[in-house]
Amino acid sequence: MILGIETSCDDTSVAVLSLDGEVKGLLSANQDAAHRPFGGVVPEVASRQHTETLLPLIEQVLQQSHTDWSHITGIAVTSRPGLIGSLLVGVVTAKTLALANQIPFIGVNHIEGHLLAALLKDATHRPPHGFGFPFLGLAVSGGHTHLFACEAPGRYKLLGRTLDDAAGEAFDKFAKMLKLGFPGGVQVDRLATQGDTKAFSFPRALLHEDNLNFSFSGLKTAGLRAIENLKPQELQTRTPDLCASYQEAIAEVLVEKLKKAAQQTGLKNWTVTGGVSANTRLRTLATEAAQKANATLALPPLRYCTDNAAMVALAGLYKIKNGETSSQDLSPAASALPTDWTPK
Ligand code: KG4
Ligand code: ZN
Repeated sequence: MILGIETSCDDTSVAVLSLDGEVKGLLSANQDAAHRPFGGVVPEVASRQHTETLLPLIEQVLQQSHTDWSHITGIAVTSRPGLIGSLLVGVVTAKTLALANQIPFIGVNHIEGHLLAALLKDATHRPPHGFGFPFLGLAVSGGHTHLFACEAPGRYKLLGRTLDDAAGEAFDKFAKMLKLGFPGGVQVDRLATQGDTKAFSFPRALLHEDNLNFSFSGLKTAGLRAIENLKPQELQTRTPDLCASYQEAIAEVLVEKLKKAAQQTGLKNWTVTGGVSANTRLRTLATEAAQKANATLALPPLRYCTDNAAMVALAGLYKIKNGETSSQDLSPAASALPTDWTPK
């Protein structure tokens, strides 16, 4: 069994994965309540929460999966990219437990984890029939919007990425402007169901450009302008329309670029993962596009889409099986390493 540890941002998550890639246990502790008063993630608060939560959560996941340390043959931990203080808690814990139990550990890239979430299986879930490498992976969350050709475990080619804000950040900032609470993506999604996608005209940046990059900062500014142009008494009644139109702009751009990437690469297996892949409209548009293109789309269950340690354990499992391990001098890094994927 592999123990996975994820502490790169504001979720403390631990998982036990069997050597054939089946999730035996997954526990995540969400810190939303601690960050809500500040309207966003406070790095110092996040690392303190990880420190308090992580070890008891590991004990709990071992119990839940009827496992003890004698069954754990390796530890996988997110070591990059992320908030440095948060990453440090996970990395130091993984090193210490590896040393104490005399087992190998490996630091993995969080975004690689998101991509591999498409392959996770458990007692109640299997990836779609026929889904596997090579596949097209769109990892879209509060911290990243990256599009990859995933050729084999550990072999990823970056096709495009956001030039400024991540899609989840665009959702969260818009929700903040509308005072919908934190994290806001899910609130925008909920209100959008009662709104008109065409009520407001929002920009689709880079949509027709001949590249696979994204940009959401202009959309954010347009969102702010649209809110400012409404009279205070209009704002409440127009909020569903604002949410539907804003969400449509994000979902449309994401799916159009996914389609373009599929045409360019010829890949017929697609996945959309990361917290934003929970978005109802994005799921609908991606599903329709996959059907039209005769592609197999893996939309992992939510527990594997949002930040979780099962995906980290799977990324580590491939590496450990391949003989790769980290040494005790591994440091966490705020950014990806040049060797994590082939650049554009
Ligand atoms: O993957 P994740 O849990 O953490 C990061 O690595 O960022 O993603 C969190 C992001 C947040 O920005 C959140 O607002 C967004 O995913 N999100 C959504 C929805 N559910 C979560 N965005 C749009 N619609 C949703 N239903
Ligand atoms: Zn993430």
